[in-house]
Amino acid sequence: MSATLEMETVVPSQAPLGAEIQGVDISADVDHATVQRIKAALHKYKVIVLRDQHLTPEQQIAFCARIGTLEPHVLPQYLVPGYKDLVRISNVLDQASQPIGMIDAGRLWHTDGHFQQRPNMYSMLYALEIPHDDAGEPLGATLFVSTAVAYEGLSPEMKQRIAGLKAVNSLAGVYEMLKRNNAASLRAPLTEAQKREVIHPVVRTHPFTGEKCIYVGKGATIRILGLPEEESRQLIDELSDWCVRDEMVYRHRWQVGDLLMWDNSGSQHFAVGDYALPQRRMMHRTTVAGSVPF
Ligand code: SIN
Repeated sequence: MSATLEMETVVPSQAPLGAEIQGVDISADVDHATVQRIKAALHKYKVIVLRDQHLTPEQQIAFCARIGTLEPHVLPQYLVPGYKDLVRISNVLDQASQPIGMIDAGRLWHTDGHFQQRPNMYSMLYALEIPHDDAGEPLGATLFVSTAVAYEGLSPEMKQRIAGLKAVNSLAGVYEMLKRNNAASLRAPLTEAQKREVIHPVVRTHPFTGEKCIYVGKGATIRILGLPEEESRQLIDELSDWCVRDEMVYRHRWQVGDLLMWDNSGSQHFAVGDYALPQRRMMHRTTVAGSVPF
């Protein structure tokens, strides 16, 4: 069922999360009330798409800055030249056969900035070029799950078991897992600063809705404090697998002009790498800073 909110319409997906917002042109002067309603929809549905947008980098950056405080990406080598807040995600190669952007972004279930003291609040991806199969169907989908819905579905025993637990997280863990999955081979090695470890709660509270959300991932979460290593590994795997069961997934099938936003406090996502050149994929990504998880 769709709901009309003054000017725009919100059409929820069939999945446990995700909605399309119709009737907003981000390149125009979007008023404050509309921005607030978009944020409310983002908190409710965790991932929202605005189709058929026509955005310059400046317009994407300006809109993102109205949603929150822009955050530069942790891997500056992937920035669009001339823009300190705009990351290029792409499989396109330059004349030296080097990727012009992040070629393997998101090839594992994760939530953005999980390895930072203050993980990213929202991410915004704008589709410039999308790969297709021979039948014209889009490739390179992005999958999402709600970690709030996943938490709600846990047994009372599991909720009690994980209450108050904390875990160590690191980008190095993400790289290890990507390497095991044969991705990340084209990435520059991490610096010592980029490898630093941070501690977050295993269950975080959404800073705006108050929902409890599972906050572990198989790559970024290295160990749960206070548990023997094997038990910690098993619990990370069990909670991660629980979050990403098939019936939990919203699959975003991209169209050129999509502006997709997701809420990193209450979701995880995964980029499907089922395409290759000459099929090109090109995205511009901006990120909004978040707060310390509690
Ligand atoms: C990401 O994880 O930020 C990238 C998602 C995508 O490219 O689909």
